[in-house]
Amino acid sequence: SSELSLRPKKLSEYIGQTALKEELSVYLKAAKMREEALDHVLLFGPPGLGKTTLAMIIANELGVNLKTASGPAIEKGGDLVALLNGLEPGDVLFIDEIHRLPMNIEEMLYSAMEDYYIDIMVGQGPTARAVHFPLPPFTLVGATTRPGMLSKPLRDRFGIINSLAYYEPEDLAEIVVRTASIFEAPITKEGALAVALRSRGTPRIANRLLKRVRDFAQVSGKDRIEPDLVTMALDKLRVDQKGLDDTDHKLLHFMIDYYKGGPVGLGTIAANIGEEQDTIESMVEPYLLQLGFLKRTPRGRVVTEAAYEHLGVPYDRGD
Ligand code: ADE
Repeated sequence: SSELSLRPKKLSEYIGQTALKEELSVYLKAAKMREEALDHVLLFGPPGLGKTTLAMIIANELGVNLKTASGPAIEKGGDLVALLNGLEPGDVLFIDEIHRLPMNIEEMLYSAMEDYYIDIMVGQGPTARAVHFPLPPFTLVGATTRPGMLSKPLRDRFGIINSLAYYEPEDLAEIVVRTASIFEAPITKEGALAVALRSRGTPRIANRLLKRVRDFAQVSGKDRIEPDLVTMALDKLRVDQKGLDDTDHKLLHFMIDYYKGGPVGLGTIAANIGEEQDTIESMVEPYLLQLGFLKRTPRGRVVTEAAYEHLGVPYDRGD
């Protein structure tokens, strides 16, 4: 799909996350020089920042195969065995949402990561026995939006632990320019920055918004994407000046209208705006916290004065 071809294949094509890239390039080079498997890598950060892309780049740069899986989809020991079974020496196994691995699977991973073997139980009742299953050296790349939900034993088995940060507008704009050129959609620097500024520091969102802006450009006969068109299109998409969408507005207005801005517990917010707690914690809240529009307190979430200002609501806490 076009999504796949948008992904950079090499570290040198990957824009932003400079410190992480520099670090990784050293580890990749060293592993290649020693002809060893790269140490296990844990990537954490909000969705859409490029964790999967990095896993693909790691495998590509090492010249090895990549197998991908998702934590909640590995339900039984057999699923894990099937994944590990086909690995060749040095291959990369990518497990997305690794914090959602079932506990028994997670425990099987410990020996796989540390000593490259798993012990599995075969058969039932009196004929049940453990089978020792050796593995080639491999690299586990784990990704999670919720590092706090990872158990300590699992976390401790990763030699390389890094977080991905929200992208600076300049980096995001560069990504937008790159994507636009893949789409063969001419865009000005200012146009790209306008998209970037409403993309919550997130390449996945920037690329999605760019696609819609490009539709508007096409239909209105514009041969170049410029800031005016971006503003018009994103207003229609109900993405505001700071990149907040309907869900963000619903959350903030619920807290302001019914709780004078808080504190409000996460469960109360979830039940009233119709989103899962986990979705709010991993996908909605991080950007609002980053903007300084929301604060976490022991008694719940609180809307900040900056958010009131952004929404054009008078800041009257009544206390
Ligand atoms: N597309 C999505 N994320 C990207 C990144 N970080 N660099 C280049 N292209 C991208």
